[in-house]
Amino acid sequence: MMISIKSGREIELMRQTCALASRTLEYIEPFVKPGVSTEELNKLCHDYILENNAYPSPLNYHGFPKSVCTSLNEVICHGIPSKKDVLKDGDILNIDVTTYLNKFHGDTNKTFLVGNVSDEVRKLVDVTYQCMREGINQVRPGGHIGDIGAVIQEIAHGYGYSVVEDYCGHGIGREFHEEPQVVHIGKKGTGPEMKPGMTFTIEPMINLGTKYSKVLKDGWTVLTKDGKWSAQFEHTILVTESGHEILTLRQEENATF
Ligand code: MF3
Ligand code: CO
Ligand code: CO
Repeated sequence: MMISIKSGREIELMRQTCALASRTLEYIEPFVKPGVSTEELNKLCHDYILENNAYPSPLNYHGFPKSVCTSLNEVICHGIPSKKDVLKDGDILNIDVTTYLNKFHGDTNKTFLVGNVSDEVRKLVDVTYQCMREGINQVRPGGHIGDIGAVIQEIAHGYGYSVVEDYCGHGIGREFHEEPQVVHIGKKGTGPEMKPGMTFTIEPMINLGTKYSKVLKDGWTVLTKDGKWSAQFEHTILVTESGHEILTLRQEENATF
């Protein structure tokens, strides 16, 4: 069991790759509209990342065929961009961007509302964001990884939603997925202790119905077993001496954190 502690220099490189990942989500936002295909969004993100001298980490990662993950409605995560998936009014689309710059990965995602989304689904998306935010607020030296899942679980279950257990957050740095695993359920005071210099993601997937998932024959697309919709948000977090720094924070979020 080895959780890497990043040096000051490594943290500076993490800040750069993470800033690019968050800028990619800002860049793509105006294109997420009814009528666009997830393949077109993939191409735009791919080109933007390359123009910024970086590489899209998902591309060819264990054989993943595209540059971002696009997860629509009942897709929980790892959706594959496709010409056939054209956005329509009322959809929700998660775009998960991971950049590889200066030999470091930065990982972030956001669930976008497409046009007019039902009140029920809008609430799911709002609560999922709140779950991520309160999970992040648990991050401080001396705390435990289990503190994060404990608050996420409490909030989600309070609204009658379920928390996906089959996929989780992860350490990140020179590798896309490092230790520790950051599960989004749990018990306060359990799991590895958080120490300054650790970097990991918090990325809760919250479902309207069952927590159980299935994988399509394409080997990637993860859907809810009952077909009810799912939302997700993700940030890459640094544990600092005094608490934490959100390395993938977007401009629009400055007010909300
Ligand atoms: N970005 C995803 C995560 O948050 C992982 C995607 S793996 C891929 O961990 F291969 F599907 F791209
Ligand atoms: Co991640
Ligand atoms: Co991600």
